[in-house]
Amino acid sequence: MTSQIKPYGDKKKSKTVEVRDMFDKISPHYDFLNHFLSFGIDRYWRRRLVNIASRAPHARILDIATGTGDQAIRLAKKLSAERIDAIDLSEKMMEIGREKVEKEGLDDIIFFQKADCQSLPFEFNTFDIVTVSFGVRNFENLAQSLSEIHRVLKPGGLLLILEFSHPTAFPIKQGYNIYNKCILPAIGYLVSKDAKAYTYLPESIKAFPSGKNFINFLRSDGFLATRFTPMTGGIATIYSGIKPHE
Ligand SMILES: C[S@@+](CC[C@H](N)C(=O)[O-])C[C@H]1O[C@@H](n2cnc3c(N)ncnc32)[C@H](O)[C@@H]1O
Repeated sequence: MTSQIKPYGDKKKSKTVEVRDMFDKISPHYDFLNHFLSFGIDRYWRRRLVNIASRAPHARILDIATGTGDQAIRLAKKLSAERIDAIDLSEKMMEIGREKVEKEGLDDIIFFQKADCQSLPFEFNTFDIVTVSFGVRNFENLAQSLSEIHRVLKPGGLLLILEFSHPTAFPIKQGYNIYNKCILPAIGYLVSKDAKAYTYLPESIKAFPSGKNFINFLRSDGFLATRFTPMTGGIATIYSGIKPHE
């Protein structure tokens, strides 16, 4: 699946370039808006992902689309990982992440690197766990990215994806739609001054497969024991899958 929903809709630029430019631009406001716009619930969703990770071998972890490093930091604090590689397209997001990691004294565990998920700079069978929090929706080529993740996971390794999804139950669905259409873009613009970034967010969520539909992508890229766990009425979902032994 190649998703063509792009932040700025510039025909001359690829989605990957537009996404990188957008996150570079909003990076100073990202953490604040992330927690503010989700009423802090994102912290609970991240904790749930870490809990699942804690039950699997986790010496080597790769956090893809790490942004400002919140998920990587939480993994490093709660698990006894030897090393967490944290990659992202946006240097500006990772600059903020590096500062946070240094402040937390985790710079001997978390290592940032600029890289595109569609072409990962790692050997085959390197990682016990790969995590992607709020990243997959932004990938230009989802199938290629999942196949790269599959390549770098060890056989038996675990993929954990946290992503926004589509609530279906009344009244969460209705409230969420109003919030996403009106309130989120307005506050996002007021703080970041990027009118497109916070309309791209709900548009990209709407266009992205969720639940069983997303699980089908994991299966077609060779992941087994796939599961999904909707949270907070389905506003966000954790997806998991295992790379099979040969
Ligand atoms: C919404 S942020 C999520 C950041 C962080 N994981 C979190 O949970 O807060 C999405 C991140 O995905 C990154 N990204 C998008 N496409 C990417 C790709 N193809 N490869 C690597 N990173 C990508 C963006 O640069 C951005 O920092």
